[in-house]
Amino acid sequence: MRPLVAGNWKMNGLRASLDVSRDVCSALARGDVSADVMIAPPATLLMAMVGVCAGSNVSVAGQDCHTAKSGAHTGDIAAEMLRDAGATAVIVGHSERRTDHGETSALVHDKAAAGHRAGLMAIICIGETQAERHAGQTLAVVASQLAASLPPSCDARNTVIAYEPVWAIGTGLTPTVDDVREVHGAIRRDLETRFGSAGSAMRILYGGSVKPENARSLMSVAHVNGALVGGASLKAQDFLDIIAVCET
Ligand code: PGA
Repeated sequence: MRPLVAGNWKMNGLRASLDVSRDVCSALARGDVSADVMIAPPATLLMAMVGVCAGSNVSVAGQDCHTAKSGAHTGDIAAEMLRDAGATAVIVGHSERRTDHGETSALVHDKAAAGHRAGLMAIICIGETQAERHAGQTLAVVASQLAASLPPSCDARNTVIAYEPVWAIGTGLTPTVDDVREVHGAIRRDLETRFGSAGSAMRILYGGSVKPENARSLMSVAHVNGALVGGASLKAQDFLDIIAVCET
């Protein structure tokens, strides 16, 4: 399966940071890149980054979207607007949205459906908290988030799942390879049960403190089909090193 490496810049980056995407595009200016590469910048940089990345091997994604096409929703961005700005994907249900903005899986489901309606790929994030892991609830939490967050419009082309244990995001902590194998295997089985062959072909990314140093072991796990990278995607060389691992 062709891996996807997506960089999530979160609320980081001023115009000068476009140089990072420029560097990534030039380093990947070859015909044989064997991974899909994507950057999700803050909304303020999205159109400019689409310009920087035009004609390159790097595509651009939004970090969130509203469920409606337009309307009185101050501060929000419609999936159609992301698409109009040149994005090809949108991240939905990131744990920081679920925590900071109280987003439920039901809302994430509707946001993913909005992304599909606009012709965007939805990168749907799920993952347990530290307390849930300690309570032995990881698989149950992931299964229920998966069941509730994925709309019926999901297929292998328009949907990517990102498993991101909340306690691993931005902390430098990562689950063991065995833990990642267990969760990704369970996600794959759930996807196949619900979506059949599309579920076998849907990519499942690992996210949470992916760095050049740990990427190889994490990416070698069965049913890990790429990475969602936060902090390390802000540095071109670190991001490129992770992409190189995913390409092999
Ligand atoms: P991190 O973030 O790589 O900085 O841990 C990952 C994410 O939140 O997508």
